[in-house]
Amino acid sequence: MAKNALKRIPILTLLIFVVLAVSSEATKYQSQNLKETNIVFYMHDLASGLNGHTTKMVGGIPHKRWAVLAFGTVFAIDDKLTETKDWNSTQVGRARGIYVNSALDGSDLHLLMSLVFTNKDFNGSTLEIQGSDRFYQKYRDVSVVSGTGIFRLARGFATLETVFLDIPNSNAIIRWNVTVLHY
Ligand SMILES: *[C@@H]1O[C@H](CO)[C@@H](O)[C@H](O)[C@H]1NC(C)=O
Ligand SMILES: *[C@@H]1O[C@H](CO)[C@@H](O)[C@H](O)[C@H]1NC(C)=O
Ligand SMILES: *[C@@H]1O[C@H](CO)[C@@H](O)[C@H](O)[C@H]1NC(C)=O
Repeated sequence: MAKNALKRIPILTLLIFVVLAVSSEATKYQSQNLKETNIVFYMHDLASGLNGHTTKMVGGIPHKRWAVLAFGTVFAIDDKLTETKDWNSTQVGRARGIYVNSALDGSDLHLLMSLVFTNKDFNGSTLEIQGSDRFYQKYRDVSVVSGTGIFRLARGFATLETVFLDIPNSNAIIRWNVTVLHY
């Protein structure tokens, strides 16, 4: 019996070692220091005008008026993101995806989009956005739910502020201040 127990010691030690190695692998990300990155840019959400047609109404409730303020109306977007409010300032990337008016009283756009970066710092990386854009509020937060490239496993939030608004033509310029934690 005692002999058998002794024989098992090296195996047990090995097992413990393996378990420790696995658990240290599992905690690698948890213990590693997360980087915080802050990005400010402007999104040109334009359905009409000289620089328009990056935002397109693509659906709505049948037999009802489709409009940005009407519940159920869906927009597809490929909006330009720039460094400053000026359309011609340096492009940071594009906001690609959809938003849908998701409040019965029309007061909320559900955003579901990727921020696809093309600037020097984040070229090729994306951040995934999902959240409630209660656009009547001066400042509102939407979630950054994940990312790719240098933003793999990122999470965070973005504070939105409307800096230009033309509701009849569905045109707006939105200031984004994105805060993300990533590895
Ligand atoms: C952007 O630049 C183009 C070409 O130089 C010019 O025609 C246009 O007026 C500029 N747009 C704005 C908003 O400044
Ligand atoms: C971003 O990456 C693309 C593809 O690799 C490249 O063509 C482009 O020049 C890069 N842009 C910047 C600003 O580095
Ligand atoms: C962006 O948001 C962060 C977090 O709320 C804040 O600390 C920072 O001052 C803001 N930066 C700008 C330039 O607005």
